[in-house]
Amino acid sequence: MSDAPVERLSLRRPDDWHVHLRDGHLLQAVAPLTAAVFGRAIVMPNLAPPLTTVAATQAYRERILAALPEASGFTPLMTAYLTDTIDAGELERGARQGVLTACKLYPAHATTNAAAGVTDLEALAPVLEVMESCGLPLLIHGEVTDAEVDIFDREAVFLERHLAPLLRRHPGLKVVLEHITTAEAVDFVAASGPNLAATITPHHLHLNRNALFNGGLRPDYYCLPVIKRERHRLALRAAATSGHPRYFLGTDSAPHPRHAKESACGCAGIFNSPYALESYATVFEQEGALDRLEDFASIFGPQFYGLPVNEEPVVLLRQPVEVPVRLHLADAVGGDHALVPLHAGQRLPWSREGGQQDGGARS
Ligand code: DOR
Ligand code: ZN
Repeated sequence: MSDAPVERLSLRRPDDWHVHLRDGHLLQAVAPLTAAVFGRAIVMPNLAPPLTTVAATQAYRERILAALPEASGFTPLMTAYLTDTIDAGELERGARQGVLTACKLYPAHATTNAAAGVTDLEALAPVLEVMESCGLPLLIHGEVTDAEVDIFDREAVFLERHLAPLLRRHPGLKVVLEHITTAEAVDFVAASGPNLAATITPHHLHLNRNALFNGGLRPDYYCLPVIKRERHRLALRAAATSGHPRYFLGTDSAPHPRHAKESACGCAGIFNSPYALESYATVFEQEGALDRLEDFASIFGPQFYGLPVNEEPVVLLRQPVEVPVRLHLADAVGGDHALVPLHAGQRLPWSREGGQQDGGARS
């Protein structure tokens, strides 16, 4: 076998199992970026107001499709937003009509547009039982919200305090622990049964918490769950590249316009969709695991969700790509409404054959 580095990597088209496509002008700008690469994406429901009905979710799905170029071949997989008063019958109908793929649990006030989230997980048991019986997976933002728990410990505390009892109460429920950030979460998933999986973002694979304070306060690296110390980043890299089928790709690309990030109370969220696959490929190569990228990006997700894998290919080339320092939105909302992508101003060693399709919105 030759040791020559791989120059061209063909993968089945990947899926993004966790993304924020937003609405309005942001949706117009970011949805095509996701659809240019990914075949499907699990779309987060934390709009304002949140998506709690089949009708609202279906209407949002239509707006997403309308924001895409023709023949994008992209399928948005829709989620409902769980609240203390969510109507379980609505979820059941959504599943039966094929509108809903999963439901999202935000602990109340955990993150952006999570004010209407769930305050009492035990009280949600009847709703989770309905989800279990109609095969709707539960997607969890796994952080406690108590002000007295250190923000860097909120995920680890959530695992023992809430997730372990929930899995015991609902052994038949499929659960995805979204955007894991800690060695504790990696270990928790590995030690759990086949009904628990986790998604991992590119930013949590690339960055540790020093990035937040590197030479000054860096709002572009602020997201929730917040990036953690180096040992956690290394545990996430080991998990993602391990070939374990219950860790898979979920970008958590969460765009906020620049002025909303660079403010006295900057929004949480890292925008990574334009170069997400190139970003993951960089990590997999650094870990000597390029041969496992396809499993992580394109196979393990559909396997867990019980969906077919995509057939069409996406090709990565060993040709460096310069990530623009910002992407401008439509003229009408330009200026400070620009988005700053992950790796802004940096060079990544892999690029996509066919190039970035961002409608010329780069600078
Ligand atoms: O950083 C984040 N941004 N984490 C989330 O959970 C939500 C997201 C957003 O919607 O901006
Ligand atoms: Zn998210």
